[in-house]
This record gives sequence, structure tokens and C-alpha cells, in this order.
Amino acid sequence: MLEEDLHGNGPSPTHEIVNGYCFFHGELRPLGEANVSIATHALNYGTGCFEGIRAYWNEEQGQLYVLKAKEHFQRFLRSCRILKIACPYTADELVDWTVRMLAKNEYRENVYIRPLAFKASTVVKVTLSGLRDEVAIYSVPMGDYVKTEGLSAVVSNWQRVSDNILPSRAKVTGGYINAALANDAAVADGYDEAIMLSGDGHVSEASSSNLFMVRDGVLVTTPITADILEGITRKAILQVATDLGIPYEVRPVDRTELYVAEEMFLAGTGAQISSITSVDRREVGDGVTGVLTHSLQELYFRAVRGMEEKYVDWLTPVYGRTANS
Ligand SMILES: Cc1ncc(COP(=O)(O)O)c(C=O)c1O
Repeated sequence: MLEEDLHGNGPSPTHEIVNGYCFFHGELRPLGEANVSIATHALNYGTGCFEGIRAYWNEEQGQLYVLKAKEHFQRFLRSCRILKIACPYTADELVDWTVRMLAKNEYRENVYIRPLAFKASTVVKVTLSGLRDEVAIYSVPMGDYVKTEGLSAVVSNWQRVSDNILPSRAKVTGGYINAALANDAAVADGYDEAIMLSGDGHVSEASSSNLFMVRDGVLVTTPITADILEGITRKAILQVATDLGIPYEVRPVDRTELYVAEEMFLAGTGAQISSITSVDRREVGDGVTGVLTHSLQELYFRAVRGMEEKYVDWLTPVYGRTANS
């Protein structure tokens, strides 16, 4: 496989999602038939939670691999718990429905999967209790969410939502207004991405991914108490770093550390591992993707496609797994 093939090439995340089968009301059905009322509570108040999962296509193996499927659904169920959403499925059952949905869509390309749980009642009352809940999963072919090399970032003047205001460790639908405001402002000002500070002025994370930097040869990322989403990619990177013998620290990060870091990258399901080469128009290190970032990228992009024996337990194969796939 060529190195450029290891990046998540495919359709852009701005494509309209119109086709295919989704999981809704307990069964697989065409996406066009999975609709809700405009009076839906979640549409009006943001009372839903979601996940973002990737599945990577391996052409040589003729296999589609769902990455960290169970961990994503475990986080999904934790988000549901925080929002008092009763999800009638276990993480394993949700993985199973996802695999069936992907197989029915007959994908032979990289895919993004979106589980969604939400307050479905058509009532006006602002509450989390006494409402009907619904669970859905849909998917869309998707390549890179952002380019994986040479991103420019800005420290946003939008503060990352604090856990005492809106649960930051849950992927809450309404909470993404915060991410959208920060990202939109960054892009309008000519940057690729926003880095957000938490209420206490420390670095939290980027608008929709966790942040890593390298200082004095040590990989550093912010702690789960820094109002971050507890990223699944973040955890995977710490595992890969350990395996590669790269020392790491999980600790609070000051804003000006961003100006003296040797390397920096975004980590997330969408962002994958994407190098940041400037912050606030100041070069990070030499202004190119750093050596450690590059070695993490290389191994990660192989692992997610089932090309590294050591990490096959990260993956759920879609084809040849169930009788009807
Ligand atoms: C706000 C935020 N932080 C971090 C992440 C990265 O999390 P993960 O690696 O689990 O996708 C995401 C993406 O899902 C996110 O939306």
C-alpha cells in the first residue's frame, strides 16, 4: 500500500448525507425514511448525545475495519447516562447493529459512523426526565476530516465549555455549538483549527479533537480534568507511544507552552493524527511535521487498517463476520 493511501482519502465531511441504510426504531431502514418531527425535544434544546466512529477500508484484505467500536459505544452509553437517556441496547449490541448496517451498505471505502441518542418527545418542557428516548445510527463515506499535515491553529477567544456548565466528557449534541463557534471563527480568520482554553486559562483541547505537543522530547497531552472529551484516539496514541518507547506526560498545559513546543498535533476520530505546524502565526518547531508525530502517524495509519498484528484488537471486521453480511 502506498503511503498516501494510508491517509483517510475519500469524500469530504461536507457532503450531504442522503443515501444508504441506517439503524432507527430498532431495525435497519433507508435513511430517507428515518425522520423526526420539528417539535422533537433534542432538535429544540440539543438534548442528545452522539459518537463519531471511523471504519477503514483495506483494499488488499477486502475488509472494512471498525476502529475501537466497543470503546465508542461504551462512551456513548456514558454520555446517555449523563443525559438520563435510557438506551435499550448494550455496547456489544450496538457494535453488532453497526456491523450489520455497514455490511448492508456494502461499503468498499473509508466510512464515518454516527450513533445518536436523543430526547424524542415532542414537548416544550425543558427537562431531562419523563421524556421518550430514541437511538439511531447512520453512516457516510468519509476521507480526511482535516488535512493530516501542516495545520495552522489559533488560540480561540471562545473558552472551552466547562464541566460545571455542560458536561465536557459527554458528547452532547448541544455542546457542539461551543466547538462550532470556535472553529468557525478560526476559519474565518484564516486558520485551520481553534485551540481552546478552559475557564482556568489552561489549554483544554481543539474544537473537536484532543491536543498533543512535544516538549524536550516528551509527548504531552492535557488531563481528563481539563474539560476535554476523553478521547479514544488520545488513549490509543498513549498506547502507541508506550510501544514506541516515546516518553509521555499527561498534565496541565500553559498557553505559552504552545509557542515553545517542538511538535504539535490533533488527535481524534475525525482529525486522526494531524500535525499543527503553526500556532497564532508562530511556527511550531521547524514549521514542519515533527519526527515523533510522523512516527506515531505512520504506525497509527497502518494499525487502523489492520496492517499491524499488535493492534488487531482495536478493530472489528465487517465482512465475513455474520451470516447475513
Ligand atoms: C470535543 C472533542 N474532543 C476530542 C475528540 C476526540 O475524541 P475521539 O478520539 O474519541 O474521537 C472529539 C472527537 O470526537 C471531540 O469532538
